[in-house]
Amino acid sequence: MSFRALLLAGALSGAVLATGAHAADLTIGFSQIGSESGWRAAETNVSKAEAKQRNINLKIADAQQKQENQIKAIRSFIAQGVDAIFLAPVVATGWDTVLKEAKEAEIPVVLLDRDIDPSGKDLYLTAVTSDSVHEGRVAGEWLAETVGDKPCNVVELQGTVGASVATNRKKGFEEGIAGHADIRIVRTQTGDFTRAKGKEVMESFIKAEGGGKNICAVYAHNDDMMVGAIQALKEAGLKPGAEILTVSIDAVPDIFKAIAAGEANATVELTPNMAGPAFDAVIAYKASGTVPPKWIRTESKLYTAADDPQGVYDSKKDLGY
Ligand code: AHR
Repeated sequence: MSFRALLLAGALSGAVLATGAHAADLTIGFSQIGSESGWRAAETNVSKAEAKQRNINLKIADAQQKQENQIKAIRSFIAQGVDAIFLAPVVATGWDTVLKEAKEAEIPVVLLDRDIDPSGKDLYLTAVTSDSVHEGRVAGEWLAETVGDKPCNVVELQGTVGASVATNRKKGFEEGIAGHADIRIVRTQTGDFTRAKGKEVMESFIKAEGGGKNICAVYAHNDDMMVGAIQALKEAGLKPGAEILTVSIDAVPDIFKAIAAGEANATVELTPNMAGPAFDAVIAYKASGTVPPKWIRTESKLYTAADDPQGVYDSKKDLGY
């Protein structure tokens, strides 16, 4: 029986539909980007665990970083008549047509962890994301406070080109260091949110910047790229975390290992549990028509060596990462 039919049956029998009471009958399709980072893998694992807890049938389609695969997956979910669609959009543009198709089929769409262009605002039910401009700003402000009045040349490893989080984390960081004329971004390039590309791009930054001597800090849009960058710095005989400051985003266990070892300095946390609030929003919407806020904002917290990195590592390592 479909969720809608079940609602009707419940209504006819006079049963009160409490939030989550019949979640077992929900089927949700999740178009996931891929597994480019430890954070992404954790998000997938946590989504499965949260679905299991609520007895939701979650179908995950791995797009392997390609928007065209995500569009295909959404069309297939529509054809299957799922009750809702979760979308982690790899890039911000190019969604309007397929999201209109979902809307016409009356299937609510929830965005997870990344945003789309404002033209698509009416085409989804809600977005569960952090404030990624804020994340970048927190990283920039931490760096500005840490270097004080000293000059500092920063190299930046950007996320996937066209992803909302890459655009926003860049913007936020620039806002965070604005007003500190001696802190300058001297090199910036995408590392595609991956460890391997982060390392490769960092190697080229080191070469271009006098063997690394001209670099004061590395800012990476995620921890995985930073872990790759740390490796490159160490192989070049440099001391990340001591001679070269690091700040990145995600708060995955491996960055806490690096902070505990004195090889990284700071990270801004992004929760991998985007699906939990998204499931709750869909269940309430289906059960009682409750329309969630357009943006369900998750918390962002800065961690440094002062925050017991080994303890955080121990507490995080079994949480789906
Ligand atoms: O959209 C969230 C970002 O995507 C994470 O920060 C990054 O690790 C991931 O791949």
